[in-house]
Amino acid sequence: MAVVDEPVLRLSGVGKHYGGVRALSGVDLEIAQGECVALVGDNGAGKSTLVRILSGAHQPSEGTIAFAGRPVRFRSPADALEAGIATTYQDLALAPHLTIAQNIYMGGELLLRPHFLGLLDKARMRREARGYLDRFGFAVNDLDRPVSDLSGGQQQAVALARALRWQARVVIMDEPTAALGVGETRMVLDLIRALGAQKVTVILVSHDMDDVVAVTQRIIVLKRGRKVGEVVTARVSPSTLAHTIMTGEIPPEASAA
Ligand SMILES: Nc1ncnc2c1ncn2[C@@H]1O[C@H](COP(=O)(O)OP(=O)(O)OP(=O)(O)O)[C@@H](O)[C@H]1O
Ligand SMILES: [Mg+2]
Repeated sequence: MAVVDEPVLRLSGVGKHYGGVRALSGVDLEIAQGECVALVGDNGAGKSTLVRILSGAHQPSEGTIAFAGRPVRFRSPADALEAGIATTYQDLALAPHLTIAQNIYMGGELLLRPHFLGLLDKARMRREARGYLDRFGFAVNDLDRPVSDLSGGQQQAVALARALRWQARVVIMDEPTAALGVGETRMVLDLIRALGAQKVTVILVSHDMDDVVAVTQRIIVLKRGRKVGEVVTARVSPSTLAHTIMTGEIPPEASAA
């Protein structure tokens, strides 16, 4: 699928080695604003390595990344988040004992006036927090509940509300449904669709081919640290995709690149 507009992310020749271990090699990739793409591949294919590079947790050993048309080199996840790339991991990085509102504003609280005695603008934070959660159809009556009281799907909504608070243009989700039941998984898939409707780009890492086929437009297939191809989601079934991951062979009629 040709990307017509300036892609929000463009990777050229991105690779990573950990000491003598080659985890990722020569990845070229373009992703459009508002697109939902999956990263798939067997265990050890390099998915999480690529996620760590995009999220600022690790630096690439070689290659370049352009974000919104500009070359970037993130030094930390906070750096990437500030630029507009938010990442949610399976364990979410939420603070379970803090409240919903506190979690959404963790590390970036709104002050009443900048540096004015460091007083927090709690009313505004609560109003905005409610607004972000509304955008996912999650009506909370009590923002002071600790996050540990929420279901897995609701916790994902809080993590994504936090991403919206940072005005993330790209949200990366590594295995968001791995620990969830059927109903909760459906809720997370709806959250992903809601992000797409708001023109937020989503990069989904998943081993669940049903989930991948349900929400993405394009699928990037990795094998042993290399991108073996791209697939147009509408042209594959979950079972074809599972076969593609095993063999590393992209069915020509489904190829996107
Ligand atoms: N910190 C590290 N030190 C050494 N080798 C690593 C490190 N992280 C990853 N690797 C190696 O890099 C390769 C890619 O790993 P990665 O975690 O990216 O795979 P993955 O596709 O996310 O797999 P999974 O589906 O199991 O999560 C593997 O061979 C792995 O052993
Ligand atoms: Mg992984």
